Amino acid sequence: MTDIINFVFQRGDRKGRLRPVNSNDWAQIVGWWNNPDVRHLYDVHFVNQTFSDAEKWFLKETGEQDRKPRSFVIEVDIDGKWLPVGTAELYSERPSHNSVEFGFLIGDKEWWGKGIGTEIAKKMVAYGFKLGYHRIGAVSAAYNTRSMNTLQKAGFQIEGIRKSYVLRDGQYHDQTLMSVVKEG
Ligand SMILES: CC(C)(COP(=O)(O)OP(=O)(O)OC[C@H]1O[C@@H](n2cnc3c(N)ncnc32)[C@H](O)[C@@H]1OP(=O)(O)O)[C@@H](O)C(=O)NCCC(=O)NCCS
Repeated sequence: MTDIINFVFQRGDRKGRLRPVNSNDWAQIVGWWNNPDVRHLYDVHFVNQTFSDAEKWFLKETGEQDRKPRSFVIEVDIDGKWLPVGTAELYSERPSHNSVEFGFLIGDKEWWGKGIGTEIAKKMVAYGFKLGYHRIGAVSAAYNTRSMNTLQKAGFQIEGIRKSYVLRDGQYHDQTLMSVVKEG
């Protein structure tokens, strides 16, 4: 099928794929956004979001659905069945500058630290460059070291800090700005 991006993780032992988001995914996505483990680390906008917020965000932020998809569900192969475990998207496109932002989340922490994030970040960067973007940005709360390490493994470099940009549980935190720029 077109628009599916396959990947392997855990030293090539396991299979995963990125498949375009569809409306049947909204409830699952909202569940991930509202999971306190994820919410602590993921983007500040996604606090107590609803089903229709998910739909609006994906349609508005990732573009019309009549072109190549920008938002994907991450799935892993469990005995021949695809289990959704998170999302990966290119959003906040700036068409006149050929730039876009990359975001990812794995919604159940059981799946963290298995190499999925690294593989999908690499695949999404390659896909973004193939779509014609010149620059792909990403942001992380500065305390989210796993996210920053994952992005660096996929070629992103730290380009700056926004001071006290994230208010989380009554505390202000810096946000790290990162990017990967196409060579040539
Ligand atoms: C961020 C996220 C997508 C990373 O995906 P992942 O599959 O867990 O990451 P990986 O297993 O590929 O790990 C990549 C690197 O992160 C680093 N890392 C792993 N665990 C870590 C930890 N507990 N603390 C700090 N760094 C860690 C390592 O450098 C690792 O590479 P290595 O295994 O070769 O040493 C995932 O953890 C997640 O969804 N977290 C919650 C939501 C979130 O933070 N989203 C990003 C917001 S910007």
